[in-house]
Amino acid sequence: MQTVTGTYDVFGDELEKMVFLESSARSFFRSLGFEELRTPVIEYQEVFVKTLGELSDIVMHQMYSFEDKDGKAVVLRPEGTAPAVRFYVERLCHQRPRSKVFYIGPMFRRERPQRGRQRQFHQIGCEMFGFGQPEADAYLIYVGSLFLRSVGVEHTILLNSVGCPTCRPRYSDEIRRHLKDVELCPDCLRRRERNPLRVLDCKVDASKLEEIPLITDFWCDDCRSKFEQVSSHLSNLSVSFTHDPRLVRGLDYYTGVVFEFYHPSDQKNAMLAGGRYDFLVEFMGGKPTPSCGFAMGVERVVRFTQDHRESGRNGVFIAYTQEARDFAFSIFKMLSDARLVGPETHSSDVVPDGVGGGVRLLAELSESIRRRLDINLEPQRGLRSQMRHADRENYRFVLIVGREEVEKEGVSVRDLEGGDQHMVFLRDFRKFLGI
Ligand code: HAM
Repeated sequence: MQTVTGTYDVFGDELEKMVFLESSARSFFRSLGFEELRTPVIEYQEVFVKTLGELSDIVMHQMYSFEDKDGKAVVLRPEGTAPAVRFYVERLCHQRPRSKVFYIGPMFRRERPQRGRQRQFHQIGCEMFGFGQPEADAYLIYVGSLFLRSVGVEHTILLNSVGCPTCRPRYSDEIRRHLKDVELCPDCLRRRERNPLRVLDCKVDASKLEEIPLITDFWCDDCRSKFEQVSSHLSNLSVSFTHDPRLVRGLDYYTGVVFEFYHPSDQKNAMLAGGRYDFLVEFMGGKPTPSCGFAMGVERVVRFTQDHRESGRNGVFIAYTQEARDFAFSIFKMLSDARLVGPETHSSDVVPDGVGGGVRLLAELSESIRRRLDINLEPQRGLRSQMRHADRENYRFVLIVGREEVEKEGVSVRDLEGGDQHMVFLRDFRKFLGI
């Protein structure tokens, strides 16, 4: 049996990197005043069809949709902006008309699977509702760039403006005029009539589009001025970017400034993308609310993050002989309890007699216990084999519990890094841990 085409199991290093990226994003965006939002994975189809555009690739070809038992059309969400706007209109706009939210979660698109493109993937997205000024666009791009820098991911940024309802219709007419006699793929034939800007994003007909004039020549004064202001703010913030006048986005809700971030080694798959969508909230039933946002693909960013896992040994493993089993488990319980109280209760004035390394050993031990603690679960297994296991699993310390330890009410602490071994009495350990 296999996973569904375009999906895969995440495990090991890649999972570690994803968890790292997601938890870094959570604390990063929270620290900037974004609030986390979790919307359902399933939504009514209408949330996406008109908002993303009936002629967008997603709506035309890529939605996982099905009819629910009550006859309603339901989809697995292909992106996070439309659901966030649905939530904003239903709830958030009443409490806080100006809001910054972020979300982390799986999205589904029935695309042709290839490197960097899956049918289930994850996005970390940010949306800023009620922010209409160029400062907000620049801030958003800056924040995206800062986050990628904070996780050590290089990137280049492309910037453009896709115009607004004042200037875009003139540009659309121009595209239609240019493409009048050009042979186009079936999708683009439909787009040419109803949404010609979408043709510019076509992968099939790219070579036939070179002659089309640039949108820059059609911008209204407002779009031009906003684009220039965003550019100048970005320069002030030392964010480098390239103006790509051919950049259009695959979704219909964008107006004004749009952007895409790429890794220098992959100019095909954007890692992060977004822009302004000033009319979407109104379109979905809310009050006019200028907004902007972006989403990054977790899998695409993770490809370029370094392994941040600490190398080297950590944690404590408890090994014991059969006769010392109960005593070993009581130590396991004592140390597990100690993990529930904070390290600030440690009392460093305890210098136990006869302990090699004294307080330093106890401090390292208790720090290790907090990271990882486990006990042998096969009492019949010999001590030697338990030690081998702890070594293979990269534990820092093994606590050895046998007859002598039971008699002396202590444990032998073997440091697998240095190789030395010391007896620690439980009364000293308890005192040090403050339990
Ligand atoms: P998008 O460009 O469709 O925009 O997707 C954003 C990011 O999600 C892409 O740059 C890419 O990293 C990742 N992504 C998209 N499709 C796939 C896939 N099949 N496999 C792997 N990664 C993928 C949006 O979704 C907008 N909602 C972004 C936005 C938020 N605009 C405003 N606010």
